[in-house]
Amino acid sequence: MGSRKLYRKAKEVFPGGVNSPVRALVEPEPFYVAEARGPYLYTVDGEKLLDMVLGYGPLILGHRHPRVEEAIRSAVGKGWLYGAPSPLEVELAEKILAHVKPGGMIRFVNTGTEATMTAIRLARGYTGRRLILKFDGNYHGSHDQVLVAAGSAAGELGVPSSSGVPREVANLTLVARYNDLHSVEDAFRRHGDEIAAVIVEPVAANMGVIPPVPGFLDGLRRITRSYGALLIFDEVVTGFRISLGGAQEYYGVEADIVTLGKVIGGGMPIGAVVAEKRFMEHLTPTGKVFNAGTFNAHPLAMAAGLATLEVLEKEIQRASEAMRGVVDVLCESASRLGVEYTINRVESMAQIFLGTSGPVENAEHARSSDNRLYKRLHHYMRLQGVFIAPSQMEAIFASTVHTSQEIELFQEAVGKALKRALEP
Ligand SMILES: Cc1ncc(COP(=O)(O)O)c(C=O)c1O
Repeated sequence: MGSRKLYRKAKEVFPGGVNSPVRALVEPEPFYVAEARGPYLYTVDGEKLLDMVLGYGPLILGHRHPRVEEAIRSAVGKGWLYGAPSPLEVELAEKILAHVKPGGMIRFVNTGTEATMTAIRLARGYTGRRLILKFDGNYHGSHDQVLVAAGSAAGELGVPSSSGVPREVANLTLVARYNDLHSVEDAFRRHGDEIAAVIVEPVAANMGVIPPVPGFLDGLRRITRSYGALLIFDEVVTGFRISLGGAQEYYGVEADIVTLGKVIGGGMPIGAVVAEKRFMEHLTPTGKVFNAGTFNAHPLAMAAGLATLEVLEKEIQRASEAMRGVVDVLCESASRLGVEYTINRVESMAQIFLGTSGPVENAEHARSSDNRLYKRLHHYMRLQGVFIAPSQMEAIFASTVHTSQEIELFQEAVGKALKRALEP
């Protein structure tokens, strides 16, 4: 059955035909994947697509990396759910903590959403405070606390960005402008003794890709410390992607709590909260901040994650080199065709903002770029056999198995696709 027919059926059984909204942005209908291997997706319609989305970040070794596949097969052969601890969870924990927070502790959960939800609860439990501060355009998953966008004035009390989030809950989340320490200081001046934590994507990956400007993360560290609030780095995307130690290592700034997901599960559902023991011991069962999960530390996710990190320890640089090649090619095509653009890249994650040539440093900048032109680019790239994120607000990713051959393919595709996208 082809994608069109599958989507028609899907629309009868899923709201909008999909199980996560971004998938519905692929027009005229989402393609259905029959199989994936290395840097490629193979659709039920017979298309072969170079994958620059990689499951929205987790698949940094590409699809079906032999080491990961073997680890999953071997784990399946031993059963896949015990309701009791299993050895691999200790191994994966030690591996992660060796890079992310030596001497720290970790709690495995199942998604990035659960990780940020738990981190925020932990910060509130630890500090005894109510409020959190997040940034306009940062995404931390789909729970109520973080589904809040900025009001027009930075630091204003938040308004829900989803119906169903009670105003009373949204009011507990303050919103500041990304890369703008004044807006953070403002919020702290007004509510400093009530703020439990600042949660931030140390490289924003949900409004395109936006790196922190020099001093921003240091500034957050300084401000939170001076007011007794905790600093949460949401490294669900950046963890084990921009470096093995994530943004903390990359930018030399230490957070109190780090949330992880995506890469550490090698493509299996996963999330994790990492912090020093003095914080983590507040989680149940040692402490009173509740967290639990039937599937926490799922054996298959532990196996896939461990194999992924073992390979990454030797090969992470390859993914960054591949993205450097992709970005060079993008710049060259856009310049040749006379398009205004800005490209932000941090190692193996990047995004192009079309219709703007100024720096893109916050959500307002990202929103003012030409998303319509970007969507056309996405569409024509797909027709040229390359899958880039369907929205300007998402990131594109490279893997360790994107080689010079894939960069050449990308180059050929983008030259043609951008030309078509620009046609009236
Ligand atoms: C920075 C960040 N945090 C948290 C999440 C939520 O993760 P999940 O989709 O696994 O719940 C995402 C998802 O894209 C994310 O990008």
